[in-house]
Amino acid sequence: MMATQLLDGKIVAEKFLQELRPRLDRPGRPPCVAFLRVGEEASSQFYVARKRAVAESLGIRSLLAHLDRDAAPEIILSQLERWNGDDSIDGILVQAPLPNRQLQELAFAAVDSAKDVDGFHPHNFGLLALDRSDGFVPCTALGILHLLRAYGVELEGRHVAIVGRSTIVGRPLALLLQSRSVNATVSVCHSKSGDLARSLCRSADVVVVAAGSAHLVGPSWIRKGAIVVDVGQTAVTGPDGCRRPVGDVDFAAVAPLCQAITPVPGGVGPMTVAMLMGNVVRAWELARWNGN
Ligand code: GUN
Repeated sequence: MMATQLLDGKIVAEKFLQELRPRLDRPGRPPCVAFLRVGEEASSQFYVARKRAVAESLGIRSLLAHLDRDAAPEIILSQLERWNGDDSIDGILVQAPLPNRQLQELAFAAVDSAKDVDGFHPHNFGLLALDRSDGFVPCTALGILHLLRAYGVELEGRHVAIVGRSTIVGRPLALLLQSRSVNATVSVCHSKSGDLARSLCRSADVVVVAAGSAHLVGPSWIRKGAIVVDVGQTAVTGPDGCRRPVGDVDFAAVAPLCQAITPVPGGVGPMTVAMLMGNVVRAWELARWNGN
């Protein structure tokens, strides 16, 4: 039995960012991305800080507005309107989750679709659903595709099972993987799929787990030789009392079965951030340089 291949998102993301650098070498102002965070969600605080640090390392400017979790929708919308109208800002990102789903949908839809570097505006989501390649594609979906391609994983004609139908990961990933540029056959299962979820995953060549439920997927879900992508990252307290991130997949039990698997952390996470930087540079090129 061959050793399990680790799909190392840190290495692939770093290479992607290095390849992005020459595109930033232009006269005039560098790209700028604005982040909106609402409330005190610890994971959002961490992710936005991480995205801003990577932006800075590339010479991309960033700014942050942090609003109280009780902020009125009008306050959120007027912040986004100001950024929409500001020509010195190329990309806008509203970090999810917002305190409620309605507010999140309102905020995503209020971002100028030309600055929507997260791809969550209905316009960009619609372009993805229509199999058009001219919109912004959500970063985690794009990152998973890029990571699998970097390791030479063939997806055309393969069966990919996705666990989780979130608008942030599962749904856009399903659309991207079944597009005419990828040609995978996709099954999406979720919390109401019951026993179907396990049997669909067992029949899949590639299993992507984005359920947000620590160690949901064990060895009985995965067939021998499958490729497993773990999007989950939940902080749990270990026996030593330290908090550490664990994935949606029970890595120790599942990895020996797999042809390849992503670690948590260091798998999908760095890819999401790298793809965001790619989207920001693209938004800047489109706005400032006519896309050239
Ligand atoms: N929350 C979890 N992942 C993401 C992401 O990729 N973008 C945003 N905006 N929020 C998230």
